[in-house]
Amino acid sequence: MTETPRRLHVITWGCQMNVYDSARMGDVLSTLGYAPVASPEQADLVILNTCHIRDRAAEKLFSELGRLRRLKEARAADGEPMLLAVAGCVAQAEGEEIRARAPCVDLVFGPQTYHRLPAMLEHAARAPVVETEFPAESKFDFLPEETAAPTPVSAFLTVQEGCDRFCSFCVVPYTRGAEASRPVGAVLGEARRLLARGARELTLLGQNVNAYHGAGPDGGTWGLARLLHALAELPGLLRLRYTTSHPRDMDAALIAAHAEIPALMPFLHLPVQSGSDRILAAMNRSHTGADYLRLIDRLRAARPDLALSSDFIVGYPGETEADARATLDIVEAVGFAQAFSFKYSPRPGTPAATAPGQLDESVKDARLQELQALLRRQQAAFNTASEGRVLPVLFTGPGRRPGQIGGRTPALQPVHVEAPATLIGQEVPVKILRGGATSLLGIPAETQFPTSTKEHACA
Ligand code: SAH
Ligand code: SF4
Ligand code: F3S
Repeated sequence: MTETPRRLHVITWGCQMNVYDSARMGDVLSTLGYAPVASPEQADLVILNTCHIRDRAAEKLFSELGRLRRLKEARAADGEPMLLAVAGCVAQAEGEEIRARAPCVDLVFGPQTYHRLPAMLEHAARAPVVETEFPAESKFDFLPEETAAPTPVSAFLTVQEGCDRFCSFCVVPYTRGAEASRPVGAVLGEARRLLARGARELTLLGQNVNAYHGAGPDGGTWGLARLLHALAELPGLLRLRYTTSHPRDMDAALIAAHAEIPALMPFLHLPVQSGSDRILAAMNRSHTGADYLRLIDRLRAARPDLALSSDFIVGYPGETEADARATLDIVEAVGFAQAFSFKYSPRPGTPAATAPGQLDESVKDARLQELQALLRRQQAAFNTASEGRVLPVLFTGPGRRPGQIGGRTPALQPVHVEAPATLIGQEVPVKILRGGATSLLGIPAETQFPTSTKEHACA
């Protein structure tokens, strides 16, 4: 501890796991007396928590570093030194290159090293530090349990990290490392603490979360389904979700969990990436379009109101018009409640980056537009179908306009409602007045809501 207060500002890009990680870095740093501040201008330590998934995500880092370099120089001239750190997946992938391109950076460290922040900072005060080795120990064993930060109503909880699937386009196995699951006891402990601090919904995170295989208290290995069953028993928990899943790791127990666990929300993000078997094989996805459709059938048999979401990549090397058509066909066949779609972005070090048949941006653009138009129509149709229904909404914070609060339906649709802020943290029946492109407008329903969301959804 120092006598002067230490001020921390973290800028987070990328996936939900980076959001979770940034919060955990804040917890580690609070043990050194760091408190969060709202802008880099006020901070003694600025951490950029980065994403490497597509080229534009990585480019953001260097434009932000240009801005922060000037700030750092101005601060140094005023005799107020500032430390600049780069964390996350770009840090892991580019390490020394970041320092070479941006010498103003004092500290570069990968996603598995966050528990070493105190030691790394001590060194960085004397000389630049680049820490991208994957440590032998698990950071989770060393991260503090206490947090000074407020706990959100809907909280993230990392249960699994890294990926062994090696899809040929993807940097994640290189940036997050090998697939590893946290022990069941550690997950349940963190879940209890989050619920005690006011969380009502938990979203379990993992790059390939349904590959979860954590050490159980009974000495055996638990899969995700068993973990979900145990979490659903915890007092105070209203809702459970998990993301992101690989179709090949969706086992029978997990499918059944969607029928058996009322707290498990009827929404699943299950990326398919493409509808073409040729492209899926080239992507090393180890499933076909038909496999995916069969899986959707089984999931819908277990949970008929299950809303589905996916990720898509268009313009993968060698993708033909017929392949692109097959992706549109699978979207038509499933009917998604929402989805994310991206132009293929070659990532250094991945097999697809050097594959023959790289496509022009103009081709990718056209295919992305066509796919997104279809996905937008499906999302709008899904939202419109909610009009007139009464849905349980878990309110999580302020809404879009003054006087509104915002929350989510079981199917993850954002809802804005004119209602008192005292309802934040509660699940309340809401009558849906209007379904827009990406969100719903509702009013608190007067009717008493049925106790089971499942009964209601089928009513
Ligand atoms: N672990 C998750 C998410 C990985 S990253 C999963 O397995 O699905 C999120 C999404 O980014 C991926 O699903 C994929 O659609 C997209 N993505 C990954 N690498 C990409 C690349 N090189 N170009 C374009 N999109 C990519
Ligand atoms: Fe990347 Fe997901 Fe494939 Fe793993 S399963 S390599 S995280 S796209
Ligand atoms: Fe990006 Fe790393 Fe997440 S590359 S999507 S921050 S796992």
